Parts: sequence; C-alpha cells; structure tokens
Amino acid sequence: MDVVICTAVVQDAWREALAEHLPEARIHIGADAPPSDYAVVWKPPAEFFARQPRLKALFSLGAGVDSLLAIPTLPRDVPLVRMEDAGMADQMVEYALYVALREFRRMPEYEAAQAAGRWAPRHARTRGGFTVGVLGLGVLGGEVARALSAFGFDVAGWSRAPKTIDGVHTEHGEAGLDAVLARSRVLLCFLPRTPHTERILDAARLARLPAGAAVVNLARGELIDDAALLEALDRGHVARAYLDVFAQEPLPADHRYWHHPGVHITPHVAALTDVAIASAQVADKIRRFEAGEAVGGIVDPGRGY
Ligand code: NAP
Ligand code: GLV
Repeated sequence: MDVVICTAVVQDAWREALAEHLPEARIHIGADAPPSDYAVVWKPPAEFFARQPRLKALFSLGAGVDSLLAIPTLPRDVPLVRMEDAGMADQMVEYALYVALREFRRMPEYEAAQAAGRWAPRHARTRGGFTVGVLGLGVLGGEVARALSAFGFDVAGWSRAPKTIDGVHTEHGEAGLDAVLARSRVLLCFLPRTPHTERILDAARLARLPAGAAVVNLARGELIDDAALLEALDRGHVARAYLDVFAQEPLPADHRYWHHPGVHITPHVAALTDVAIASAQVADKIRRFEAGEAVGGIVDPGRGY
C-alpha cells in the first residue's frame, strides 16, 4: 500500500509518525510523489491531484476542509476525511475557558482601572448568571460547551440540526441563532466555513448581542463581516474581539485589527493538530477503508463540512 503525505510543514515528522502506526505502508512525501492509495494533505498545490489518479481516500490534516473543497482539481469521487479532535478539543477548551474567565472576572476593566491609577472594585457575579454562547456543537464546539457547562457557566449552543447536550441549552435554525445571540455575554464561534456560514456574523447579528459582549472566533475568518465587527467595536457594542483566524492569513500588516484596543489576536494557533494522535487516527482509518469498515469524519461535500 502506498501513502503520500503532502503538507507545507513538518513532512518528515508526519512520515515518521505514520510509519510507526502503519509499518506495512510505503510512505512518500511531497507533491511529486508516485501515484498512491491514500493521501494525507494540508493545503496541497492544485497540481498535486493530477499526479494521484488512483486515490482510495484523501485525509485532511485539519478539522476544517474549506480550503481543500475550494481546490478545483480536488477529485470529487474520492472520500475526503477530516481530522476529528486529534488533540485539538482540549486546546479549544483551554482557549475558551481563558476568555470566558477573563471576561466573567472583568479583567479588562481592572486592567483599564490600573492604567488610570483607579481603585475600582465591582460587585461579584455568579457563573450560572453569565451566558456563554457556542456556535457549532460538533467535535470541538460540543466539547467546549460541555467543559464550560461543567465549570458552571450558563451555556447556550447552536447547531444546524437539533442536538441534546447535558447541561447545555441548545438551539438550531435561524430563530435559534437569534435566541443564542441575544443572551451571549461571550460568543464563541466553532462553525465550519461553508456557503451557509460565510459572514454569518454580520452587522444585524452582531447588533443582537448584549451591549458589551465579547466575540471569539476560533474557526474561520470568513465567518465574520470584518467591517461590521470593527464598527461594533468602535461604538463599544462589542467590547472585545478575540480573533485567532482571519479571511487573509497572515493578517495584512495594515489591517485595523492589529492596533484596535478591543482586539486580541493570536496567529491561527487556537488548536494545532497533534502529529502523534493524528497519525494514529489516520492509520486506523486507512485500515478500516482496507477492511471495508465504516469510517468516521467523512465530509459531506453537499453540506460543505
Ligand atoms: P464539526 O465537528 O464538523 O462541527 C461543526 C458544527 O457546526 C456542527 O455542530 C454543525 O451542526 C455546525 N454547523 C455547520 N453548519 C451550520 C449551519 N449552517 N448552521 C448551524 N450550525 C452549523 O467541526 P469541528 O471539528 O468542531 O471544527 C469546527 C471548525 O473549527 C472547523 O471547520 C475549522 O474551520 C475550525 N478549526 C480551527 C482551528 C484553529 O486553530 N483556529 C483548529 C481546528 C478547527 P450539526 O451538528 O447540526 O451538523
Ligand atoms: C485548523 O484550522 C483546522 O481546521 O484544523
């Protein structure tokens, strides 16, 4: 069996880890590799697929497959399999808890008070009275919603189809989104980028958030209308935005986000695929394909995720 790995970074680490979990495979790396049975990729060049005419399945090294689905040469008849967790859910939980706690405990207000030399204590509040909204209740958003709820926050989650998660108030569909937005003091976004979710956080939806809310985007930059978010930040309706992902990455040097006092930027590091866990996951799924067994994480191209 031949497996090709094509990713811009740490190809050798992927080769070593995959060889350990799949010793029976011949593993190749790079866009010029010979025709293989399985490909493991992250942002391959468009010409990669012309050299891979006999793929049985294609694995994305990320959870999001929007950039792969946008490649015109992507073979539509080959199953596309995405990463499921692969070490990322724990990292998303850490990021989400950090922001929720920072906002809940009013740290930005105390930092501003310190800068002004002001001693300004505020009353205490309860976690159960502080709502954190979670858009997208899949592998990552679902785990984050459960963790926030276990920590005692009031959690409101939103997905495409109805969903039940213990301790989480769930909504779905257009009306459900409005209800979640209206109560979210912190709004976390874990939606995939699809034609239905692009710019889902536009001016009208941002206006539905409570005044002073924080918006957190750990999914894809295209989910937010940047001009609308900047306008909402400028007038203080959105107090802060924590942004890990951007429509253009790296974020252009002249983008207003860089220097806006309400914006906190991380460079698309909210959750990184763990090479060891991901390789074990890919190896297991390749064996399942070979055995004709069911495989999790197959993307539905019609849904776009
Ligand atoms: P997932 O398991 O596929 O979950 C996606 C969730 O979004 C599901 O709950 C789905 O609803 C919901 N959804 C999709 N379209 C919707 C729509 N039109 N309306 C309402 N809900 C919708 O994906 P995941 O593994 O959690 O990953 C989520 C995203 O995180 C990825 O697509 C990727 O872009 C991003 N990501 C970012 C980083 C980073 O470092 N910043 C790392 C990893 C992933 P249903 O449950 O009803 O299907
Ligand atoms: C990273 O952004 C991913 O989709 O895994």
